[in-house]
Amino acid sequence: MNRIMIMAVGALMSLVVNAQEVIKLPAPERTATTVSVMDALAQRQSVRSFSSRELSDEQLSLLLWAANGVNRKDGRLTAPTAMNRQDIQLYVCRKDGAYSYDARSHSLTRVTREDLRPAVAGDRQPFVLDAPICLVIVSDQRKFGQRPSRDFSCIDAGYVSQNIYLAATAMGLGTVARAMMDKERVVKGLGLVEEQLLLLNHPVGYVKE
Ligand SMILES: Cc1cc2nc3c(=O)[nH]c(=O)nc-3n(C[C@H](O)[C@H](O)[C@H](O)COP(=O)(O)O)c2cc1C
Repeated sequence: MNRIMIMAVGALMSLVVNAQEVIKLPAPERTATTVSVMDALAQRQSVRSFSSRELSDEQLSLLLWAANGVNRKDGRLTAPTAMNRQDIQLYVCRKDGAYSYDARSHSLTRVTREDLRPAVAGDRQPFVLDAPICLVIVSDQRKFGQRPSRDFSCIDAGYVSQNIYLAATAMGLGTVARAMMDKERVVKGLGLVEEQLLLLNHPVGYVKE
């Protein structure tokens, strides 16, 4: 009887912990912006000056969906991927920790409680620390099975990066693609393994005029 009680309490506690570690995002609201793709292209530019104003869950939801969310019933994504291997993994780094984005459930799973933005910023671009979030783009080469390809990883990351640029622009936000970061610290903080290539990051936030 005691054992059953202990198991039940354990299961309950793990439910509570999981509930805290997974954030279900609101459904992406595409009509929140009326900027056309052509206008977003006309306005796209790299921004390196951010206000610390936080983004809402709705903004984060739309941004992540546009970056690499599911856009069809068969589970395919807003960004193309080589052989549809869906190798790109997006992470959201913010003050309260870092999260992995799951496109299928449109949710975030906490990876760490550490603020990894200083590691993502690195030494030379402190403006990154002003942005409320940094998206980190990783390619999991294991998704390519027997034929891992760094080319495919980089190309797939590029599509997601451009989606982030265009979505941020259309949403009245700023961003810049960055290869610069303290890779060792980011790899450690996110718990990445060798096959997970850390390729780019994107601070995103309101533009400081
Ligand atoms: C692969 C890649 C890596 C980049 N890395 C950085 C970076 O580490 N830091 C930075 O400030 N900008 C970085 N950029 C942004 C470029 O400097 C920027 O796109 C370029 O100067 C053109 O400016 P624009 O984006 O406003 O057209 C990177 C861009 C790409 C595509």
